[in-house]
Parts: sequence; structure tokens; C-alpha cells
Amino acid sequence: MAEYDLVIRGGTVVTGTDTLRADLGIRAGRIAAVGERLEGAAQLDAGGLLVLPGGVDTHCHIEQLQEGGGADEETWESGSRACLAGGTTSVVSFSTQFKGAGILAPLAEYRFRAQQAMVDYGFHQIITDASDEVIWQQIPQVVEQGVRSLKVFLTYDPLHLDDRGFLRVLAAARRAGALVTVHCENYAAINWRTEALLAAGRTAPKYHAWARPRMVEREATHRAIALAELVDQPIQVFHVSCSEVAEEIARAQARGLKVWGETCPQYFTLTAGDMDRPGFEGAKFMCSPAPRDAADAEALWGEVRRGTLDVVSSDHSGWSYAGPRGKRVNGVEAPFRDIPNGVPGLTARLPILFSEGVGKGRIDINTFVRITATNPARLFGLYPRKGAIAPGFDADLVLWDPAKEMTLTNGLMQHVMDYTPYEGMRVTGWPVATLRRGAVVMRDGVVQAEPGSGQYLARGPYDMIRPRGVLPDGFDASVFA
Ligand code: URP
Ligand code: ZN
Ligand code: ZN
Repeated sequence: MAEYDLVIRGGTVVTGTDTLRADLGIRAGRIAAVGERLEGAAQLDAGGLLVLPGGVDTHCHIEQLQEGGGADEETWESGSRACLAGGTTSVVSFSTQFKGAGILAPLAEYRFRAQQAMVDYGFHQIITDASDEVIWQQIPQVVEQGVRSLKVFLTYDPLHLDDRGFLRVLAAARRAGALVTVHCENYAAINWRTEALLAAGRTAPKYHAWARPRMVEREATHRAIALAELVDQPIQVFHVSCSEVAEEIARAQARGLKVWGETCPQYFTLTAGDMDRPGFEGAKFMCSPAPRDAADAEALWGEVRRGTLDVVSSDHSGWSYAGPRGKRVNGVEAPFRDIPNGVPGLTARLPILFSEGVGKGRIDINTFVRITATNPARLFGLYPRKGAIAPGFDADLVLWDPAKEMTLTNGLMQHVMDYTPYEGMRVTGWPVATLRRGAVVMRDGVVQAEPGSGQYLARGPYDMIRPRGVLPDGFDASVFA
């Protein structure tokens, strides 16, 4: 009997630290060997290709339940298809809470819906209502179910938490052993600016950016970090849009705090100017925080090189343009306040980062692997199963053609959305095959996985998110409140 079920032969294997010519031997869905002249029952020729760890996207909204019933247009089946087409094999999506309700029933519903997934998946638990029952009884229960990260919005109606609610979530996470991820924008400031803009008749999509300039993101980031330090609770700041926000994170990191920063492809490629496209087209580029300008995008690459921002996720958001819940749900004259926020990006994430990052000399290939796979896997407790190529890891792999030139179109995205904000963008570098746990699930753009073949990734306790044990006056308030 052959030693390996499958050998990937002749490729250039890239990890977060190394680049080497090697064969990979795969047995029972896992990497069993990295070596030379390996023999297996089946072979896959990777000559001329890079062999990368499957992408790990730890911030994407898939089939998220909506207040009043129904869910995002992007389903687990269509979202998985988009992921596999773009080389992503694992995701952490969201289970949301509606104000006044608990978190156990929604999580059960999310886990039921995700049984259609074709990627491996976990959840962050969104907390929008820090009631006693949720904080003291239910958060420990969802963490027990393998949901090791909570998500808090410091803005958005009706999702946002005030500082007291945020502190209670930080304390609950500290007790339960979970990471807290934070959407950092100042709620009152955005509402105040929005009221003023609408009163002045400035309602078009481009005013979305005017309502939430960079200092509202900076202020909330500063505050989130200070409150996390007060509680001694690790956090990740989601979707950083500009360097002045990254600087807040860098300062915290320099002081030894467990604060991590994430950004997304849209902040490297889109600008506020895109929201000023003719007619209602600008709505296609609206997300929060708002895209800034080209100088900010360049500065973000610097923050990635420095390591301040060490994860780049899609923040894929399931709003189409013309669909029943899409950007035009309130008509094409709708004021920016009433246009759903977010852009789709499951498939485009790796090609954009490779082309704009590695292809244009802004980052090296190992950094690319770290920000798209290794670092998210480590930070969210999926390591050492996901995010690297080494014996024992799941054989989640992408065979990547670094020279293939493509023009991004919505058809290539394979999501259910009716648009991509990256339509027409030229990229060099493209996934030609995706393997999930050793099985080829995408080849030349054709996804060949069965709905339901994705596995739930229950996440247990891990060191990286352990609190530092540094508390003001040595008093651990999280034991009592
Ligand atoms: O605009 C965005 N980012 N929409 C998705 C929800 C969120 O804020 O992460
Ligand atoms: Zn957010
Ligand atoms: Zn998001």
C-alpha cells in the first residue's frame, strides 16, 4: 500500500516563514510529510506553482440573521463556493444577538444553517445586549460550544454597546477565556454628523464617508484599547482603515498590551472617491469604516510590514446591489444613512493581496501567507490545525499560479451577490486548485464539494489570548461585575 493517499509533487511550498521546493505527502486528510521524491496512491502535479496554506478568513458575514426575520443573501453554500474559488478553506463567521433576546437560540440556528457549508467554519458571537443573563450565564455556554471570540460594535443602530456594556463583555470574555473583537467607531459622533449632513441636504452615498471621518474611528479605537487595558482583556480591532488608527494599536502593542489589528482588501484598493461614482453606483463601495484615500492605503501596507496589522480578512458582507435586501432596498434616492453597509470579498481577498502586495513588492510571499492564513489561525485558536503547512496540519492547500493574469469580474467571484466592487481590476496571481483536508474541492474555477462537507471548528482554550495578569491596583473587577 502507498505510504500517502496523495502526493503534491514539484511545487514551491510557502509557509509563513519559509519557501522551499518540496513534495507534500497527505494521509487521512492531513499533511504527513514535507520531503523529496514522495510516493502516493495519487499524485497532483504542482510544477511551476506555489503551494500555499488554504486561506483562513476570520471576518466574514455569511447567512447572518436579520432583525425581523430572514438572513443575508449570501448562504453557506454560495459563500463556501466563493471561498473555495478564491483559495479560502476556513472561515470564522458570526452568530448575532438581537437586543432583548439571548444568544443560545441564535447560535443553534447558525450552527444548523452552517451544516450546508463546504468550508470549515467557526463563529464569533456578537453581543448587542449585555444583559445579566447573557453576561453571566450564556457567554460561558457559547464559549463551551467552541465559540472563543465575541464581537462588539461601538457604533450602528441597533447593534452598538455603550461603554458600560462593552466593559461587561470584556469582563465576561476574561472570565470565560475568549477574545473580544471590536468595531471601533464613535456612535454619537457619527449620529451627530449624520443628522447635520441630512439637514444640509447632503444625502448621496459619498456622504457616508463624511459622516464617519477618521477621527471617529481613532477615538473609538483609543477608547476600546483603554477599556480593554482596564479589564486586562485581549482584543482585536477589526477593519482598520487608516494609519492614525493603526498608530493607536502600535502604541498599545509597544506597551505590551494584547491588542491586535485587522484590515481588509477594500482599504488597500477602494477610496472615498469610489462612493462618489455617478448615480447610485457609489453605494456599491459603502462600508464601515469608510474607505479613505490612496495615501492611507499605502500607509496600511507599511503597518502590515511592521506587523501592527497582522491579519487581513474580507469583512465580506452579504448585501447585493439590486436584490430584495440589497443596497437599493430603500430606493435609489435613499439617504446614505439608509443604505446597507458592507462590501463582498470572499473570493477576491487572496488575489488582491497577492497582486497588490507580493506582485507590487509591498510585502514578501511569507508575509502574504502569515496575514491570510497563519496569523488568523493562531489568533482565533485554529492553530496548529489550520494556517500552516507542516506534518499534522489539515491538508488545506492552494495551488497558486503566481503569473496568471486575470481581470476580476462578478462571475469569477462565485458568490450570490450581483456585483463586486473590484469589477475590472487587473490582478496577477490566481488559485488554480484548492484542497480541503486533502480533497480537491476546486480546480480551474470549478468547485466540486458537497454542501455539508464543511466541518465545525470548535475552538478550545489557547495561550495567545490569555490575559496578561496586569490590573490597575491589582484588583480584578471582572470577578464581581
Ligand atoms: O460595513 C461593514 N463593515 N459591514 C459589515 C459589518 C461590520 O461592520 O463589520
Ligand atoms: Zn464592523
Ligand atoms: Zn464585519
